[in-house]
Amino acid sequence: EVWNPSGKYRVVSTKSMPGTRWIDLLVRQDCRVEICTEKKTILSVEDIIALIGNKCDGVIGQLTEDWGDTLFSALSKAGGKAFSNMAVGYNNVDVDAATKYGIAVGNTPGVLTETTAELAASLSLAASRRIVEADGFMRAGLYDGWLPHLFVGNLLKGQTVGVIGAGRIGSAYARMMIEGFKMNLIYYDLYQATRLEKFVTAYGQFLKASGEQPVTWKRASSMDEVLQQADVISLHPILDKTTYHLINKERLSKMKKEAILINCSRGPVVDEEALVEHLKHNPMFRVGLDVFEDEPYMKPGLADMPNAIVVPHIASASKWTREGMATLAALNVLGKIKEYPTWSNPNA
Ligand code: DGY
Repeated sequence: EVWNPSGKYRVVSTKSMPGTRWIDLLVRQDCRVEICTEKKTILSVEDIIALIGNKCDGVIGQLTEDWGDTLFSALSKAGGKAFSNMAVGYNNVDVDAATKYGIAVGNTPGVLTETTAELAASLSLAASRRIVEADGFMRAGLYDGWLPHLFVGNLLKGQTVGVIGAGRIGSAYARMMIEGFKMNLIYYDLYQATRLEKFVTAYGQFLKASGEQPVTWKRASSMDEVLQQADVISLHPILDKTTYHLINKERLSKMKKEAILINCSRGPVVDEEALVEHLKHNPMFRVGLDVFEDEPYMKPGLADMPNAIVVPHIASASKWTREGMATLAALNVLGKIKEYPTWSNPNA
């Protein structure tokens, strides 16, 4: 699909993206926009080299693509100046290789913060109240009347939410769980989440003044402290060498038997094989996963576990957010090829 065929700058998008604002922006800035219409979901390096062709000023790509030396070399040979990842995470991008070829890398933070946090909160609720299991039970025609023990789960109020990685998304999630369900907070991050701490303190004071039990917060001095003390643990670190298999067999064994683990960050942060074993041996332990170690696959056994909720990497999937991500991705390309004011560029 081609927009503005006579445009001066050639910008390739490896996927069709929601909305038209991003196309409009590029076209108004004299870009010829080419959108790949290939049906297969994940494009190979060869597919993308063919898309780049001989002349390409910038590419908007996806987190499913492997942007390493080969692609940046091809983009640089085609005269490219910018690569814009339509995602906040950029573990699929070798930023050093991009820099070597003089190509700027953009990502899309901010517009997906609340949407992603909302999915983490949804998974937390769904896991604690066993909503997916109960839904399957109804659809299977198994419900034959109310019972005192039927799908008994946990009450979040008064429990402790643990956040590992209290950046933008982790903090937004924490706020939702604290304000929405009056949970106490324990978090672990290399940096102090000052704004989050101020919020919990003020909210705790408000509850106290209203005659309610105040909520508390604590910055843990180690990750293990969070694992041992929290009832619901949500993972929000970036994926790099230091966070690969951050949650492994040993760390899983430190969590409470009835804990809930949520992952809306990146799959390899959790050792999925160890997780499946843990779920098998701890039926009261529950997990809500949006991401997987080797997407689009799941480790054998995971889909059979009644104590696991699995969804296909949809944390940022709200219309407003996806259109915002597409717009931001286009702005990032323009920021480099036309010095257009840009919002986000981690290696600028
Ligand atoms: C991201 O942006 O990194 C998410 O995984 C997809 O929105």
